[in-house]
Amino acid sequence: MRFSHFLPTTLHSLSLATLLTLTTSLALPDPNTAIFPRTVAPGTPVAAPTELRILPLGDSITFGYQSPNGNGYRLELYNDLSGDDVVMAGVIQSGSMIDNWNAGYSGKTIQYIAEQANASLVQSPNVVLLMAGTNDMNPNPDISQQGTDAQAAASRLASLVDQVFDQVPSTVVMLAKIPHVADATQESNTRAFNALVPSIVSDRADAGQHISLVDMSVIQADQLVDGVHPNAATYDQMGDIWYQALHALPQGWIAPPLGPDPDHALNRDGSNVQ
Ligand SMILES: *[C@@H]1O[C@H](CO)[C@@H](O)[C@H](O)[C@H]1NC(C)=O
Repeated sequence: MRFSHFLPTTLHSLSLATLLTLTTSLALPDPNTAIFPRTVAPGTPVAAPTELRILPLGDSITFGYQSPNGNGYRLELYNDLSGDDVVMAGVIQSGSMIDNWNAGYSGKTIQYIAEQANASLVQSPNVVLLMAGTNDMNPNPDISQQGTDAQAAASRLASLVDQVFDQVPSTVVMLAKIPHVADATQESNTRAFNALVPSIVSDRADAGQHISLVDMSVIQADQLVDGVHPNAATYDQMGDIWYQALHALPQGWIAPPLGPDPDHALNRDGSNVQ
């Protein structure tokens, strides 16, 4: 077989996402296996029978911008969590999935996200998936708003983490290092920012808070569609990463969510959660 001679050499690296987009209804093998081996089978319960009330909190990547179905990482994660009772929290809807609630603020910085977060935190999530800082590192001041200094941005992120714990003390915070980006200046900023994220986690974990580091910086610039946003396969990879990180949490960290489900709370079939 000299099949490869008939394919442009770039097919494998450039067109995989396009091919997947065109064939999403087919049962393809998991395209992420090679880059992020799954160690926990989908559908393995994380906390069942305890409900997972999950707040995806962040920017356009949380919203799912540039994802063909608009779900971003959230649908893959939701499907991975088929062994759990999952209710998505947040005040924004995006994507084709039934329970498409989230708190992803497209184009916004950590400060803006923090200004909006209380509206979702009152829903008392017991898991917060926090990924923010990409816009803070953007060299365009119209986007980065508060400036691109990594240390200052990390301080804002730490404040947002503390805001989450102030509002929902019993929650688990999964704090992400952010994906790499294409622009050289923004990438340099991103590396400086990411270097500061682990100590935000370790300082608080050492103080007994339920916070864990999730490394989304495994996402490389060639996995993006526009230099910033992941391609479809990579969004799925991110869902799998969150899933594995949930399984890696220490036993007993996830407490039953406090208070009633959000008014919008949905079962997997779209009916209201009782
Ligand atoms: C969030 O709520 C807390 C408690 O009510 C309050 O102290 C804080 O100022 C609020 N944050 C924002 C950004 O609204």
